[in-house]
Amino acid sequence: MDNNKVVTVKNLKYRYTPDGEWTLNDVTFQVNKGEWLAIVGHNGSGKSTLAKIINGLLMPEEGSVFVEGKELKEESIWDIRKRVGMVFQNPDNQFVGTTVRDDVAFGLENNGIPREIMMKRIQESLEKVRMSEFMNHEPHHLSGGQKQRVAIAGVLALEPSLMILDEATSMLDPQGRKEVIETVRSLQKVGQMSVLSITHDLEEVTQADRVIVMNQGQVFAEGTPEDIFELGDKLVSLGLDLPFTVKLSQLLNKKGVHLSKSHLKQQELVMELCKLYSKM
Ligand SMILES: Nc1ncnc2c1ncn2[C@@H]1O[C@H](COP(=O)(O)OP(=O)(O)O)[C@@H](O)[C@H]1O
Ligand SMILES: [Mg+2]
Repeated sequence: MDNNKVVTVKNLKYRYTPDGEWTLNDVTFQVNKGEWLAIVGHNGSGKSTLAKIINGLLMPEEGSVFVEGKELKEESIWDIRKRVGMVFQNPDNQFVGTTVRDDVAFGLENNGIPREIMMKRIQESLEKVRMSEFMNHEPHHLSGGQKQRVAIAGVLALEPSLMILDEATSMLDPQGRKEVIETVRSLQKVGQMSVLSITHDLEEVTQADRVIVMNQGQVFAEGTPEDIFELGDKLVSLGLDLPFTVKLSQLLNKKGVHLSKSHLKQQELVMELCKLYSKM
């Protein structure tokens, strides 16, 4: 098994009913160690189903999933769940404790972590998401972004190799979204943790190391954010949006302002326009 991969998904097929349509139809991809992989795709394209399989909440019907070289099977589910942490969309549905501390403790208790180590891990993971001062607070006093950061602390406390965010910022305001993404990014950069983020947030996608586009239960495209947004209208026809700078680059091209590429970074677009202008 390749040591540089945290997850390997091979020819994965899944459907919710025995004779139904395939929800995932021959999906193959890998998550590299330490990378931030964004997954985008229309509603119903199978993203959450994929996340649930990697986390062992659902089992593949065909094909295989390996997490750090260990194959997902009935007998390895608990081991896999320790290595893969998941943060869901709705901050209110994933709070299980009556206080922030209890909430982070929950997963550790389930894993039979000794009390002394548990207290240390709770402290450390809440520090990492900058929520330690809220240790004794009840969840209903927290903002959406703060709740998601506590959920992230709960995952971090288990020291996973992969964190899956399944539209974890979609219910947050721009400030909360930024806080959560920056928190996870700073943790991903320093540590060994890889991130698989299912998202509609274009700003987040442009900053990912790699992007996978899902369409009707299949991998439609895979590449760097630049590769992916070069697909332009093809993405739009799948119901996906393009970042503002990409749209602007394309419109300029149509109007006869020929740019070297569709820019993702506003600064680069401005630079190229300045260069073109100075030659006129
Ligand atoms: N628990 C379920 N039972 C039956 N069908 C489901 C269930 N969950 C999702 N589906 C169906 O599987 C397809 C993929 O759903 P999902 O993985 O949630 O997509 P996405 O996260 O990309 O929106 C959809 O057609 C959805 O209706
Ligand atoms: Mg989903």
